[in-house]
Amino acid sequence: MNSDAYIYLDYNATTPVDPEIFSEMEPYFKEHFGNPASAGHPWGWKAENAAERARLQVANLIGAKPNEVFFTSGATESNNWAVFGLVSKLREESPTEPIHILTSNVEHSSIKNSLEALKMQNVEVDFLPVNQYGQIEVETVRKALKPHTQMLSFIWMNNEIGSINPISELAALCKEKKIYFHTDATQAIGKIPMNVTDLGIDLMSFSGHKIYGPKGIGALFIRSKDPKVQIHPLLYGGGHERGQRSGTLNVPGIVGLGAAASFCQKNQVEETARLTQLRDIMWVKLQMALPGVLLNGHPSERSCNNLNITLSCSTDSLLPRIQNLGVSTGSACGTGQAAMSHVLKGLGLSPAESQRTLRISLGRWTTEKEILRAVEILQNAIPKRNT
Ligand SMILES: Cc1ncc(COP(=O)(O)O)c(C=O)c1O
Repeated sequence: MNSDAYIYLDYNATTPVDPEIFSEMEPYFKEHFGNPASAGHPWGWKAENAAERARLQVANLIGAKPNEVFFTSGATESNNWAVFGLVSKLREESPTEPIHILTSNVEHSSIKNSLEALKMQNVEVDFLPVNQYGQIEVETVRKALKPHTQMLSFIWMNNEIGSINPISELAALCKEKKIYFHTDATQAIGKIPMNVTDLGIDLMSFSGHKIYGPKGIGALFIRSKDPKVQIHPLLYGGGHERGQRSGTLNVPGIVGLGAAASFCQKNQVEETARLTQLRDIMWVKLQMALPGVLLNGHPSERSCNNLNITLSCSTDSLLPRIQNLGVSTGSACGTGQAAMSHVLKGLGLSPAESQRTLRISLGRWTTEKEILRAVEILQNAIPKRNT
């Protein structure tokens, strides 16, 4: 995947489409171009069958039923839909009842900004602090509950620092208190085994382009039983996706998401083990090469592919010297604004420390040779401290 000169280490930002997955998608751009809503001819049937097969593949990966998977344009839409759709439904049911939502101060901006927007619509939202590793603690959540708390939304695996939240405990707390539980699983899916039915998750967002599928496709899981979760649509129109999400289905994207899910299901254990090993080798080598380097996020309860590190010099001065390394300074899922990352701030880093912080994320095509070379490049680029 990488040439000698360039080493891509930004798989948390996006992944290339796996050639195997692309070859499954390709016919759906060309000969099988039909609209799944065209019920009267074989072009429509072919497209509909492909979308339903993909729905099953996605459902199988997350332990859901196919009718609980709704295709969207990506995790940003899924996150918006989960929170706006639930609030709208709750308001229809009990127009005068106050709504309180709990989340954390290290969520992806698509949850953070959706919930900030809901605050402007008189929804009470608390952005709870995380611990030193960037994880939300169940006790913090328990203490923040109010009689009118209706929803918890917590990221499963943090996109910047890789820390993993205690999702099963949070879901159990929600069950106990009869509160809806949403999780943004965009970075977790395909990296750890998950079963939404057993865990008691009500709503879960994810995306294709973090698991070697295409961009512009994602899904929202909506629980159908125990309890049956009902949310209002975000997009109204022709009533696609059983009336829940209108818009002509992105069939090639859906086929890609399904194939990506199926690949993850078959290879997740092996792939996670390989990446964990590479990540750990890289961290050991980084500490040897860059004295004083610090790891952000939890040391072990973290993504198999993520290292978020604080260096001795600012990344602004470093980037021109490491241009052949594809790494990220902050969250590349945003628009690249220079503002300090709210995740690093939530973790307690100062603005100066955050300016010295890099996210390195490994993936399917990362080799040991590449990570050793990447460490060497960083070592050569960082000014030596006078001892
Ligand atoms: C945790 C998380 N949530 C949501 C998103 C948004 O996903 P999408 O690009 O599919 O809208 C991303 C990455 O971009 C992410 O890492």
